[in-house]
Amino acid sequence: MNDLIIQNIKQLILPKSTDCPLKGKELDELETVENGTVVVKDGKIVYSGAHTDEYEAEEVIDATGKVVSPALVEAHTHLVHGGSREHEMSLKRQGASYLEILEQGGGILSTVESTRKATEEELFEKAEKNLLTMVQHGVLAVESKSGYGLDKENELKQLRVSNRLAEKYNLDMKHTFLGPHAVPKEAESNQAFLQEMIDLLPEVKEYADFADIFCETGVFTVEESKQYIEAAKKAGYDVKIHADEIDPLGGLELAIDEGAISADHLVASSTEGKAKLKHSDTVAVLLPGTTFYLGKEDYADARGMLDNEGAIAIATDFNPGSCVTNNLQLVMSIAALKLKLTPNEIWNAVTVNAAKAIDVDAGTINEGDKANIVIWDAPNHEYIPYHYGINHAQKVIKDGKVIADNHFEL
Ligand code: NIG
Ligand code: FE
Repeated sequence: MNDLIIQNIKQLILPKSTDCPLKGKELDELETVENGTVVVKDGKIVYSGAHTDEYEAEEVIDATGKVVSPALVEAHTHLVHGGSREHEMSLKRQGASYLEILEQGGGILSTVESTRKATEEELFEKAEKNLLTMVQHGVLAVESKSGYGLDKENELKQLRVSNRLAEKYNLDMKHTFLGPHAVPKEAESNQAFLQEMIDLLPEVKEYADFADIFCETGVFTVEESKQYIEAAKKAGYDVKIHADEIDPLGGLELAIDEGAISADHLVASSTEGKAKLKHSDTVAVLLPGTTFYLGKEDYADARGMLDNEGAIAIATDFNPGSCVTNNLQLVMSIAALKLKLTPNEIWNAVTVNAAKAIDVDAGTINEGDKANIVIWDAPNHEYIPYHYGINHAQKVIKDGKVIADNHFEL
């Protein structure tokens, strides 16, 4: 006997199972089935496709009028941090830029102060609340970065929290060591601090899958980033880069040359950098919620990247400074409006390609996959980015069990 059947699904979304990320035109290919059925047994998908009455199960969910998809994959977050920075909103209103705030010891460095002050338990409780909000919004796989400790003790404190959360909720989580996220006030020089972070790489490996660096004007140069990335690869990490977020330094080119699993932000990437995506499996993780929140006019050139046969994913960049939202659905709306992506491209970018960007087995619900599923209170997949800013996830199903149900009766 099967455990669960989801029947009468108005529209079933079935991203393709693939070994490589979807690139260029492939991103616009998405199988959608009208009047679909999904069957689950022992936490795995037994069947997903066109309507059938062939199966029986203990529990039947009627999804008349609803969309059903794989659970979303959140490929870039700064989940674990102390404090908040709502006061920066007024600084920005007065015209201060992101890098100016950072230069004056605010921005990332103010979160570093709060994170260092917080106990591991305080960080855990705050991150747990934020993680569960993501889950309620349809996300069941999450990447989580450190980078607000900037010393051994506090970086490890953040990463332990991230690992404990993955264990407590048995979630597909990937943990990233982002020691070189900013240069702390006490550092003797950029180079000395970078060396300190490089020396930590072997020890931190037990708690982290990826190593990441903020390659940006006033933070780390391309040369310094290269030095860190190469040391990280030697220490057994897959690598990521916060690249070309504000200035076109060449972080994307570096990420591709180094075979990074992803290059993230890419708002200011050069034409040469984008052209290089063509022959690469590095996923361009675009974070349009950040561009929106920083109040910038120019967004990452997603269409140009796809024209160059690049692979793109979309994520929130959830963090207390440059993108303060746990709602990936909202970022899907911004991707539609500002990156000019089609509904198919957006859905692939937050499922199968996001999974490739963080190397998790997630983002698809084809036969044999984990039954991580969302039932959306929406008539079709285009509706979700269209009706923006609210939570459309009605039921979130993890390993075949409903773990969040947003339905209520007054
Ligand atoms: O991805 N750009 C660097 N790091 C984060 C922001 C972190 C912060 O402002 O606290 C980002 O946008
Ligand atoms: Fe980030």
